[in-house]
Formats: sequence, C-alpha cells, structure tokens
Amino acid sequence: MTGVAEGIGQVLFTAEAIQTRVRELGQAISADYAGKDLLLVTILRGGIFFLVDLARAINIPLAIDLMAISSYGPGADKQGVVRIVKDLEEPIGARHVLVVEDVIDTGLTMSSLLRHLAPREPASLKVCVLLDKPAHRIASLPIAYRGFECPDVFVVGYGLDYRQHYRNLPDLAVLKTGSR
Ligand code: PRP
Repeated sequence: MTGVAEGIGQVLFTAEAIQTRVRELGQAISADYAGKDLLLVTILRGGIFFLVDLARAINIPLAIDLMAISSYGPGADKQGVVRIVKDLEEPIGARHVLVVEDVIDTGLTMSSLLRHLAPREPASLKVCVLLDKPAHRIASLPIAYRGFECPDVFVVGYGLDYRQHYRNLPDLAVLKTGSR
C-alpha cells in the first residue's frame, strides 16, 4: 500500500506552519469583524480544509456557507465566467461576506464569483486566501487576507488536489513532475 505522500517532493509549508498562519489570520479577522454579522463562504471542494481550520481560529460569532461552481476549461471564456452548480443557502444582503479560498492562481474563479455575489448587496465582500500564486494572474483582485505567497509550482495537500488525490496530505507540498 502506498501512502498519501507518495510522489510528493519539497514541502513548501508544513502542517505546523499552516496552523500558525491560520491562527494569525483568525486573530486578524476576529478583530476586524468584531460586532459584525460575519459569513464565511467557501467554494467546494478544496477550500473546506482551510475553512474549518480558519473558522475555529476566529473567536467571534460567524456563519458558514458553501458554493459549488463549474470550472472553466481550456479555451473557455478568458473572463472566467463560471456557472454556479450549488448556490449559497444563506442570504447575504447587508451581511459581511468573507470568501475563503485555498488558492488563487489566475484569479478568474474568484473574480467571477465576486461578480456573482456583489449584486446581492452584502455590507462588505472580501477575500481570504491561503495560497496566493501570482505568477499566472489574469484577473487582478483585492485580497484582504493572505496566508502565503506561493511560487509557480504544482502544489498539493491541505485541500489542494491532483486528480482528486492528495487533499488529505497535512502539508502543502510540490507534486513531483513524474507523478502527473
Ligand atoms: C482551485 C481553487 C479555486 C481555483 C483557483 O479549485 O479552489 O477555485 O482553483 O484557480 P484560478 O485562480 O486559476 O481560477 P479547483 O478547480 O482545483 O477545484 P477544487 O476546489 O475542487 O480543488
């Protein structure tokens, strides 16, 4: 039997470093949103690992909700128009919405999502991302909270997958070239 770390190369961020950073983000968010109606929104599937740790690092009342979207494919609209497969259950009008994502790469997914949510008139709409990968950014977008800046490598673990595997790796690590 092979383990979850099979095919894994350099560890970029250890589980311990991730938890330390998540705690810092949680403290900052707790201070910034004190007294506000905070709703954390995550996109399935990879973001849920970050969401559950971040939510537990925030010490003010909050609600969570989940969305699922279809990804754009090669040759798809460069504006990154995504289709909502599962919408939010919570109304967001007049609430403080913080979209929590595991990774922003081109930025197309997040910018499209923000365009979907903004017309619902939340009191605020901000982004919290664990891994900011700026190398291939197409759509620039404001990031209020950032875990780590990530180099231009294929990263798996802590929710990030390769063909649905490796999400349960506790670290964030580089997938060896021969493994994909
Ligand atoms: C990842 C991530 C974002 C998207 C970011 O999802 O969770 O949704 O890619 O990429 P972009 O900035 O280039 O648009 P992925 O498509 O891997 O699906 P997953 O959440 O199921 O892993």
